[in-house]
Amino acid sequence: KFSKPVLGIESSCDETGVALVSWDPDQPGRGLLAHTLYSQVKLHADYGGVVPELASRDHVRKLMPLVRETLDRAGLGMRDLGGVAYTAGPGLVGALLVGASAARAMAWALDLPAIGVHHMEGHLLAPLLEPDPPEPPFVALLVSGGHSMLVAVRGIGDYEVLGDTLDDAAGEAFDKTAKLMGLPYPGGPVLAAEALKGDPGAYHFARPMTDRPGLDFSFSGLKTQVLLAWNKSDRSEQTRADVASGFEQAIVETLAIKCRRALEATGMSRLIIAGGVGANRRLRAQLAEAGEREGFSVHFPRLEFCTDNGAMIALAGAIRLAAGQAQGPQIKVQPRWSL
Ligand code: KG4
Ligand code: ZN
Repeated sequence: KFSKPVLGIESSCDETGVALVSWDPDQPGRGLLAHTLYSQVKLHADYGGVVPELASRDHVRKLMPLVRETLDRAGLGMRDLGGVAYTAGPGLVGALLVGASAARAMAWALDLPAIGVHHMEGHLLAPLLEPDPPEPPFVALLVSGGHSMLVAVRGIGDYEVLGDTLDDAAGEAFDKTAKLMGLPYPGGPVLAAEALKGDPGAYHFARPMTDRPGLDFSFSGLKTQVLLAWNKSDRSEQTRADVASGFEQAIVETLAIKCRRALEATGMSRLIIAGGVGANRRLRAQLAEAGEREGFSVHFPRLEFCTDNGAMIALAGAIRLAAGQAQGPQIKVQPRWSL
């Protein structure tokens, strides 16, 4: 039996996301009622990165219209809601406060339970929004702009971080490498598009930290290798595509090696990939192939739910509220928060 719809709000960085999700543990992939997303990418493009003050202001401008639109799309009104969830961290403090304040105010006014959700738990649960979702236990590879993590998920809320990034996150490596090759913001998806036109074997970059045991990641050295290769090259269009392709292949193989290791270490046979870098086509293809060859199942959220969105926050909130985990009415965020 589905719970009453939970309104979810994501505003931790540069996307305003709103969604409505009902939760039924017996039908996990069927609870998404509606979702809307507004990306601030254009706003920040001139600055080459997210400007926190501008991000907060734009969330203020867009959030309530998106709430209205999401309810309309689902054919629901505020009175139909059963709870409110919002991203409480990690993220930009001002941006988080916009979502937290609006969510708490709506919950207060409607006398509804509300909960602050961990952004990475949202990413981690996003594959459950798909038809035929994976059930725990599974290994989660979380690769976003701020995180590269391997997590053993033994149940919802039962997470063990197996490996983490020691420096740049995978998405950060994509973004910084794109920038140093002169590609426009936002770098990751642009570099990935370049890489599709290149030869992944033309340049060989290291697979960092794969030559020793362990599940941690380090991607900052890769960026320096690319810079050296790029500066020595003829900087032609084709070279740019080849370097991008070699870089992407190095990241994808490194992630794949560590995923395999994590599956072996935990004895688990299901792998989920989530977070913005999970939208990378080569990563998706190569991991799916490895899974088929080696006998583990691989699950991804649909492309639009790899990057930041409200649906994953509504889902995580709906699950936690169904478990009775509502919190008091304080407006509290946690810009730094480990999973
Ligand atoms: O999950 P997300 O939207 O936000 C964070 O929580 O960080 O992830 C954004 C990151 C950015 O670093 C972006 O460059 C990267 O995900 N990204 C990609 C692709 N699409 C987004 N990286 C590689 N290939 C892509 N197709
Ligand atoms: Zn994210």
